[in-house]
Amino acid sequence: MDTQKIRRDFPQLERKINGERLIYFDNAATSLRPKQVVDAVSQFYLHYNANIHRGIHTLSMEATEAYEKAHKKVAQFINASSMEEVIFTRNTTESINLVVFSLYLSGKLKEGDGVVISLMEHHSNMVPWQLLRDKFKIKLHVVNLNEDGSLNLNHLEEILNKEEKIKVVSIMHASNVLGTVNDVRKIGELAHRKGAIFVVDGAQSAPHIKIDVKDIDCDFFAFSGHKMLGPTGIGVLYGKKEILEELEPFLRGGDMIWRVTLDKVTFNKLPWKYEAGTSNIAGGIGLGAAVGYLEKIGMDNVEKHERKLATYALSRLKELNFIRVYGPSERIGVVSFNVMQKNEKPLSPEVVASILDKHGIAIRTGCHCAQPLHNDFLGVRGTARASFYIYNTKEEIDSFIDVLSSLKSNAL
Ligand SMILES: Cc1ncc(COP(=O)(O)O)c(C=O)c1O
Repeated sequence: MDTQKIRRDFPQLERKINGERLIYFDNAATSLRPKQVVDAVSQFYLHYNANIHRGIHTLSMEATEAYEKAHKKVAQFINASSMEEVIFTRNTTESINLVVFSLYLSGKLKEGDGVVISLMEHHSNMVPWQLLRDKFKIKLHVVNLNEDGSLNLNHLEEILNKEEKIKVVSIMHASNVLGTVNDVRKIGELAHRKGAIFVVDGAQSAPHIKIDVKDIDCDFFAFSGHKMLGPTGIGVLYGKKEILEELEPFLRGGDMIWRVTLDKVTFNKLPWKYEAGTSNIAGGIGLGAAVGYLEKIGMDNVEKHERKLATYALSRLKELNFIRVYGPSERIGVVSFNVMQKNEKPLSPEVVASILDKHGIAIRTGCHCAQPLHNDFLGVRGTARASFYIYNTKEEIDSFIDVLSSLKSNAL
């Protein structure tokens, strides 16, 4: 994997921030986009812009073909059986909401039924289920974590053994705070043994790890294009064909129907049944280009590169005894930390981030949309987070460590 060659596809990396060359370590929030993706989007807008599925004129057919090709590319990327199993949404959040409300509308979740999530979940895999709990009396069970930030599988088994009516297990594949990679095959096995539907939040895994939905044997898998080089406003929900056929769509209107009379509606075939209204056509085409870009590098290479960077960052951070790092040693390229002061309280992560920003280094601060994880597990108000991707280098980590080192003598 030639990182220097890859970097040339990302003009934003040339930018100077506060007089310094940008070091972009905020990839878990959103990645940068290569020229190839921006080109694919602008080609559509400039040369074959038209609506899809509605016209028989040439441009409409070209746009339809490109949009459907993007579904096929994504299907291949995650090893889905066909594009019928690939629904384009706005993002992971919408994908999970689609699952939640389609299950509820279809009567698969009723008052008294149980849903299992975990304490490490992002709000997008927590708040939609809380709505079902608060409005429709679904029971929500939360799996605890082990001390090192891994999922407590014994607790999951305990819940599944004790509670009779568990209908859904919905767990993240990789944590956006701890970097933990959950054993989704094992979790899926446990969920299915109980007869529950298994939903995976893959927002932090699809960009970084080779995904094989057949091997995981999940019923749903959700992820976002913007975290994997694609445009914003485009996401994916993979669903097993037989389940998608059975469920009711919750977004309704144009394009998702087959026939409508004043009394009755029948739905379009998959996946369009779940894509109501005019789609984000340019976004879908851009996502197809992003997937093509990642496949050219090879997802095994992507993962290897990032794990190497994470291991290197952890070892360098260990040299700084005033830094507290959260999460297990085996992880994707996400490192959350706090700079500890002499009074044992963390220095505000926002202060740390603004000092790094003065040196052109972009990181994220706060709860990273995981407030229960911060409040009830880490016991801190927030953390600073550095997250890596294909264009980041060891040298950039060295610069990051240099700035953090200076905090010891200068700021504390
Ligand atoms: C693990 C995880 N799930 C879900 C999301 C939500 O993604 P989006 O905002 O693209 O819907 C994120 C975003 O950070 C995430 O890290």
